[in-house]
Amino acid sequence: MIKIFSDYVKIDGESVSLIIKNYSGRAFLVYFGKRLGDAENYEVFDRGSWQSDASNDDGPLSPVVFGSVSEYSSLEPFVRFHDDRGVFCNRFKYVKAEKIDGFYSPLPTSRDKGETVKLTFSDEILKVTVYQYYTVFKGGNVIAAHSEVVNTSDGVITVDGLSSLQLDFVSDKADITYFSGTWKSEFQKKRVEISGGRFEIDSKLGISSATHNPFFTVKLCDKILAFNLIWSGNHKETVEVSPYGRVRIQTGINDYNFNYKLKIGERLVSPEAIFTVSESDDDITREMQNFALKHIVNPKFAYRERPVLINNWEGTGFDFDGEKIYEMAKTAKKVGIELFVLDDGWFGKRDNDLSGLGDWYDNEKKTGGLKILADKIRSLGMKFGLWVEPEMISEDSDLYRAHPEWAMKIPNVTPLRRRSQLCIDICNPDVRKYLTKTLIKLFKDVGADYVKWDHNRAMSDIYSAMLENQGEYFYKYYVGLYSMLAEITAALPDVLFESCASGGSRYDLGMLYYMPQNWASDNTNAYDRLFIQEGVLTAYPQSCMGAHVAGYRKSTPVISLESMFNVASIGAFGYEFDITKATEKQLETIENQVEYYKEHRQLLQYGDYFMLGKGLTESETGGWIVVSKDKTEAVAVIITREIGSKRYRPLFKLKGLDDNAFYKVTMRPQDNVEEVVEFTAYGDALNSYGVDIEDIRWRETDAKETSTAFCSRMFYIKKIR
Ligand code: DGJ
Repeated sequence: MIKIFSDYVKIDGESVSLIIKNYSGRAFLVYFGKRLGDAENYEVFDRGSWQSDASNDDGPLSPVVFGSVSEYSSLEPFVRFHDDRGVFCNRFKYVKAEKIDGFYSPLPTSRDKGETVKLTFSDEILKVTVYQYYTVFKGGNVIAAHSEVVNTSDGVITVDGLSSLQLDFVSDKADITYFSGTWKSEFQKKRVEISGGRFEIDSKLGISSATHNPFFTVKLCDKILAFNLIWSGNHKETVEVSPYGRVRIQTGINDYNFNYKLKIGERLVSPEAIFTVSESDDDITREMQNFALKHIVNPKFAYRERPVLINNWEGTGFDFDGEKIYEMAKTAKKVGIELFVLDDGWFGKRDNDLSGLGDWYDNEKKTGGLKILADKIRSLGMKFGLWVEPEMISEDSDLYRAHPEWAMKIPNVTPLRRRSQLCIDICNPDVRKYLTKTLIKLFKDVGADYVKWDHNRAMSDIYSAMLENQGEYFYKYYVGLYSMLAEITAALPDVLFESCASGGSRYDLGMLYYMPQNWASDNTNAYDRLFIQEGVLTAYPQSCMGAHVAGYRKSTPVISLESMFNVASIGAFGYEFDITKATEKQLETIENQVEYYKEHRQLLQYGDYFMLGKGLTESETGGWIVVSKDKTEAVAVIITREIGSKRYRPLFKLKGLDDNAFYKVTMRPQDNVEEVVEFTAYGDALNSYGVDIEDIRWRETDAKETSTAFCSRMFYIKKIR
């Protein structure tokens, strides 16, 4: 609900309110927190000292949602631009607020919107106009915001930086949680408290990147604020604490090597930011996950059960042929696996990573005919999926030989290669047209049920002959890519897409908008995955997170097949190793796992997710629980990294169960554990006392499979009355 009255705009989620007050032409953020009733007046806010206390260094003390350049403030302004004389001062007045029915954006914005309010800000110096939009949704507590600069001046301006959202608060410190990492070590949870100065996370790599995910939270004395962006390119998030006791939070596109020219009448629209406020981390996670399912993921797939898949990459690498793949599929089918994904190496000349990218046609000699292979796999009763990496080009490819100018490179400069490949210039409309047509035809001809869309290098040598101003490259790349993805996914409405960027290097809401799944990491070691997945699931739904039992027998220290399952089963689940080499006993274990997964798939993929305890990043014991919306059933996995000779028994407090319900708790039988634990308990005892497994550190009996990294057990919890 959005209300505009006297000087106020009141933006309500289900149980949060954000209130903005117009005070002398400035937009003060007077309140953001637990939902307030609709008072007849808000005299209470009139008592605040909103007047700016202009001094030389940091003038206006009060929190605003839009900071100008020329307001005696050392805090970051909302927008920066300059005219052709180099004049960069701006001084915006908050003019009006109005409710609107819809808005234009060349970028993906949240689906199924509720109400939107548009705030108009007018610059007194260069006469530029900026609009700030806030959207609320039916149910839930997430608000979306974005901005738009319109050149209403009388000459060309260049935009040097633009926020999607700014929120200021009265506080002298901020406790920030964010998720940083590298290839194979994505989403590592980090925390920092600042009581002065400026903290920044960003990406400069042309992709949202594993370095810093755009999701972050900020704790201010009594509340936790959470932010994310519907955007896959360079982003920047800042939290500043002013010596005057004010915190400014901003998020949006990165202004790094960004400048965007606007002729008179032209506009630039920012990506949409989403944000919420709560008193608990669990609520933040649930709000963010539910929002992604309801308002980001393609509704056709948002609540659709995901198939159990097998991918050949870790099993074969490039070294396979059609027969090998068919053998793998046959064995996989026997144990109940539903989808075969043929990864890198099936096309052009591609027996290693030195060549072939761009040649999206069958290497018939290797596959024995892609369509024939796909049909053979389908006739086993399985679905068929295919890997592509369309945003790249190999210099040793037919496509490059025909169109060297399609590669992303600066004229007369030798470009930087990474993984021996170049990026392709998505800013070029011919490239987009060619790729869109070629890929739609390929996927239709093969009858692909699933597509893995990979992206294996950061961008460098940023240049497009199609652009007059290369400072617009990063923005226009994504306008182009998103339009391609919209066309391809619309032409193939039944194909399940999974985005991947060497694992989780482009794990963001922009990609999730078009591709309902994202491969979390190339690191498939179940121990490392504990931390990666815990990070991902803080903000993104489990049904969207690709997670496989893999690295089989490569894991050091050795991890049992059962623990690998317990870890991977909280995602869009599958296997990734050469299953033809599995022993009969291993196949039996896998068959049991697949059967169990399918039985509880709905719950595992769409139940409400809670991280147990402080999480495994911060403690030795933890795990997760997923609870059905009606709280009648749940699946929990408990994990201890504390193995060895300690005498105490770890306790695992569950979460989210109905305190008053009486539940039966049954352990999933594991091939490395002799005993199956079963007991009954009230929800309050499970939530407040927990699960107490006497010998979680001792009973992994199979000599070959003994876990030396961590121990885990899975439970099914069913309400009896
Ligand atoms: C990186 C991906 O993350 C892997 O899963 C695999 O698809 C390789 N690329 C193939 O080149």
